[in-house]
Amino acid sequence: MRDYKTLLEQVDKNNIPKHVSVIMDGNGRWAKKRLQNRLYGHKHGARAVRETIEVCHELGIEYLTLYAFSTENWRRQDSEVSGLLKLILNTLLKEIDELIENNVRVKFIGSKENLDKNYLDKIEKACAKSLANTGLNVNVAFNYGGRREILDAVKSLADKVQKHELKAEDISEEIIAEHLYTANIPDPELMIRTSGEQRLSNYLLWQSAYTEFCFTDVLWPDFSKEDFVTAILNYQKRNRRYGAE
Ligand code: FPP
Repeated sequence: MRDYKTLLEQVDKNNIPKHVSVIMDGNGRWAKKRLQNRLYGHKHGARAVRETIEVCHELGIEYLTLYAFSTENWRRQDSEVSGLLKLILNTLLKEIDELIENNVRVKFIGSKENLDKNYLDKIEKACAKSLANTGLNVNVAFNYGGRREILDAVKSLADKVQKHELKAEDISEEIIAEHLYTANIPDPELMIRTSGEQRLSNYLLWQSAYTEFCFTDVLWPDFSKEDFVTAILNYQKRNRRYGAE
């Protein structure tokens, strides 16, 4: 039943979500269980990222958005923050060539505030190499906060109104969406959160208005391809009505 191939056979290829977002939670608890420090958990979390990208590629999912570092994560201990920033950059640099070979396009979405220019340049340069790819879009939500994203959009819209480039009465939901970090990315149909927590934690607030949520007790470093396909099967059983009867 939990065999990967058997699970894949159960997937309805005509009802694959276009966009899946993931809150990768539980790295710290996974490490604690093994009497290791939190970074040890994050390092193993990077393995689960690789498997998740592979399964999305195999299923033909178009967009995968991973919550890698939130604006709230700066409150963690300095050693964890710096270790996490290093891990995210190093993982990107290590994997980017293979991702490109697999036609994956990588994009970082989030605020640039508090980040070193040299660090950001390295990220931008690596992502730029994948820009022409046409397969799976992997968005890394990095220094990301949903409220912050909406605030940035509001400021940018207010600025355009002030400069008479836009009329206040012309602001629509579509125009707001175009000013978010996720401009041109469709809203996620499915959000997966690991580790048993059941909340949104400031993730894709605007974009998740009609998203189906799938919560699993599995801690992120243990999250497997089988777990991902199980979430897809769970999603396919849902009846999405968008507020209609
Ligand atoms: C949450 O677990 C996890 C994070 C804040 C970091 C996730 C980042 C990675 C797995 C690295 C990914 C790398 C790339 C390039 C995308 P937690 O620390 O909150 O766990 P806890 O709730 O058990 O303490």
